[in-house]
Amino acid sequence: MSDRRVNVGIAISGGGSNMAALVRSMTGDHPARPVLVVSNVRDAGGLARACDLGVPTAIVDHTDYPDRAAFEDALHAAFAAAGTDLIALAGFMRILTHRFIDRWTDRIVNIHPSLLPKYPGLDTHVRAIRSGDAEAGCTVHSVTSNLDAGPILGQARVPVLADDSPTTLAVRVLAAEHELYPRILRGVAGDMAASVASPLPNSDVPR
Ligand code: GRF
Repeated sequence: MSDRRVNVGIAISGGGSNMAALVRSMTGDHPARPVLVVSNVRDAGGLARACDLGVPTAIVDHTDYPDRAAFEDALHAAFAAAGTDLIALAGFMRILTHRFIDRWTDRIVNIHPSLLPKYPGLDTHVRAIRSGDAEAGCTVHSVTSNLDAGPILGQARVPVLADDSPTTLAVRVLAAEHELYPRILRGVAGDMAASVASPLPNSDVPR
């Protein structure tokens, strides 16, 4: 491969603001480039956003498949066909099984809206406020079969204010996500691109 840039595939389910932040960051001498945005939700707002940003899109709607394995096979096929080296989950709201994750070992990253290991799963802002936390934030982590428990790659912290609702806290955390995720992706992609001893995994070995 003449161009050592890392091909990033992004999975979304919703508005895609993190996806857009990632895509916008991959310019100039960035070690990665976006090759595909996949949504499991047909009318996800992020799909139009990705089109506007000039990134190819695909819909892999989980309701079209008889079971999770068939859905994950289709998701895998979409990313593989695009030559994906690294998958970034960005508001992707399906749990991936080890069957999918094992095909992309150390090549899936995710952003989660809490300071993991606190509050894996859903409703993170409600839980932070109810617990009386003074701080909230977000975490970028490598994805393993344990939900929201893969190795932490980076975190950003924001204050929880006395009059915060889950909505106002979410806005503050989301702004932090948009700064954190591109920064960590750049580092991960840079490390992958620098490991010239081994070819990038998209060099076509069927998996
Ligand atoms: C983000 O808060 C992300 O951490 C969470 O879902 C939200 C997605 O927002 N998993 P967007 O689709 O990136 O705008």
